[in-house]
Amino acid sequence: MSMHDMYLEIKQSPELSGDISLFGAKNAVLVIMASLLLTRGVSRLKNVPASSDVLHMIRLLESLGASIRFDRQKHELVIDTTQVNKWCVKPEIMNKMRASILVLVTLLARFYRADIAFPGGCVIGNRPIDFHVKNFQKMGVEIESKGSYLKAHVRSFIPGELVLEYPSIGATENLLMAAVAAPGSTKIINAALEPEVMDLIAVLQKMGAQIEIQAPATIEVRGGAELKPIEHELVADRLEAGALLLAAAITGGSVHVTNARADHLAVFLLKLEEMGHLVKKGLKSKGIVLEATKSPQAVSFKTSPYPGFPTDLQAPMMALQCLARGRSVIDETVFENRLVHVRELQKMGAQISIEGAKAIITGVDELYGARVIASDIRASCALALAGLAAKGTTIMTGLSHWQRGYDNLHKKLASLGAHVHLYSSTTISPSLENEFQKLSHRY
Ligand code: EPU
Repeated sequence: MSMHDMYLEIKQSPELSGDISLFGAKNAVLVIMASLLLTRGVSRLKNVPASSDVLHMIRLLESLGASIRFDRQKHELVIDTTQVNKWCVKPEIMNKMRASILVLVTLLARFYRADIAFPGGCVIGNRPIDFHVKNFQKMGVEIESKGSYLKAHVRSFIPGELVLEYPSIGATENLLMAAVAAPGSTKIINAALEPEVMDLIAVLQKMGAQIEIQAPATIEVRGGAELKPIEHELVADRLEAGALLLAAAITGGSVHVTNARADHLAVFLLKLEEMGHLVKKGLKSKGIVLEATKSPQAVSFKTSPYPGFPTDLQAPMMALQCLARGRSVIDETVFENRLVHVRELQKMGAQISIEGAKAIITGVDELYGARVIASDIRASCALALAGLAAKGTTIMTGLSHWQRGYDNLHKKLASLGAHVHLYSSTTISPSLENEFQKLSHRY
């Protein structure tokens, strides 16, 4: 089935209520899957979301020679990298997903060469890879672009001191994986330390790598050890947590996200409290309850690297500001073109103006259902949230994004009482559901 035949229908919903749990983080699982190429043998990942990005990474690793089983019911992914024997990633695979740039280093570590088609993925600004490339070169990687390919080779990764001018998540992850393969000590200065990066570090440590974090944001790696396969339960997805808490807030409800980590969402939760919502954190930061205020106050915020307000929750949080009392200024500092959802929210009656990278929102009493198009993963979340509170019915297309980022989030929302339904014509090619069914049958 083509994604174009699918849409999400969202109707104004009652106050959401109930308990719900999260899958593992989509942005952790992709890089962790790539990191398994550093090992030979069978690894097992738990709480894996069945999102289409995960499916694409499965296809990518299979195209290199890995054997993979995915149990859809248990959310368990078993990857055997013993037979991986290719170092070339074709454009048709690479274009599906930007995260596939993450296999460049692991292929170099294994084969000393890698041919990777240029990355695809969300259209959020330019999304260059200059921080990756500059530091690869420092580590002895020769890299050139030929046609639609990046061709790289290395004799041996050279350890040393690497500085990132901005704490890029992807660059930090790539350099970490290069550093564990480099014989000696490597420092990554001004590294990203998002929970997803920390989950990769936990996996690399389980494999046998020596990694230490030094204040304020340096990662020191003593590399060169032989790495072994691992078993790992992924960190809970803080962005899925954000979506569910915001769904409770926008419908005036009360929801308990049982395995959400409050310590991973500190600034976000602070802003929800400033809006007037009651946030209760579980013991040892595990579990978050949100009890919504009926009269939310608008708040302003600015996105920044962890532990600041996450850019991936900027669009979803904006949906709430559209219906809050007063004026909100949202400053997107991480990506230069991540306000595409504004136009779609305006179609629903939101009052928003854009000044550079800032969105200025004046709260309105009501939003109205409309036909809207999701332009990236988090925009799809924002529009679904707005739809829950909007009068009437919202029809959202652009569902490939929803499916890339979330595993059946509509079903989780529906289980809490939301009137949301995914419609699809089942007549064309096999759906994502069927693809995962086929992978489960290998169990
Ligand atoms: N940047 C450069 N040069 C580089 C790398 C990054 O200029 O070589 C810039 C980017 O253009 C951007 C900023 O640095 O303006 C931050 O980019 P970063 O590298 O941190 O982002 P990423 O690794 O490409 C990951 C997530 C994104 C998430 C961002 C920011 C994955 C697979 N992707 O992307 O996730 O928005 O970090 O937190 O982990 C999403 O999940 O919806 C999503 C887009």
